[in-house]
Amino acid sequence: VSEEEKTEDYLFKIVLIGDSAVGKSNLLARFARDEFYPNSKSTIGVEFQTQKMDINGKEIKAQIWDTAGQERFRAVTSAYYRGAVGALLVYDISRRQTFDSIGRWLNELHTHSDMNVVTILVGNKLDLRDAREVSTAEGKTLAEAQGLFFMETSALDSSNVAAAFQTVVKEIY
Ligand code: GTP
Ligand code: MG
Repeated sequence: VSEEEKTEDYLFKIVLIGDSAVGKSNLLARFARDEFYPNSKSTIGVEFQTQKMDINGKEIKAQIWDTAGQERFRAVTSAYYRGAVGALLVYDISRRQTFDSIGRWLNELHTHSDMNVVTILVGNKLDLRDAREVSTAEGKTLAEAQGLFFMETSALDSSNVAAAFQTVVKEIY
């Protein structure tokens, strides 16, 4: 294998979706910059970050896209999903309403992207255990029924954040 081949780059587009305030932007901030914003504002439009990852000794670049959960702040939907090969479908374990929205987000994902997009269901804010409204078993059951990976995370204390992104990228790769 030549040096050229060894350093070959892979670029994977991954999208973050889910209701407003579930923690999409903070999952990205934690993963890409190891930062957390206790009082972050709603995302307006689209932001993305490219993060290098090492998967089985290969350098992979994940281009992670983040947009607003709120319809009125969202960018053109089709452009957001175009070319995505992975998705993190995020809800907040302390707000059942955000879990109830998952079906709607799945529909949107399937309308605008390839059926084969590697998707993980992410129950974020695992640190808010005392305020939990959605059990781990419920998350797992939904994920299994829909053929999704599943993980609970905390952008606040970093639990499983890298693991969630890695699960998707490993499966794509
Ligand atoms: P939109 O951009 O409006 O779609 O929201 P978002 O999904 O990007 O949510 P964001 O990351 O802005 O987080 C919303 C609020 O939840 C902020 O106050 C964050 O500090 C907080 N938050 C995010 N992740 C966590 C977490 O894991 N634990 C706790 N306790 N709070 C979190
Ligand atoms: Mg946001």
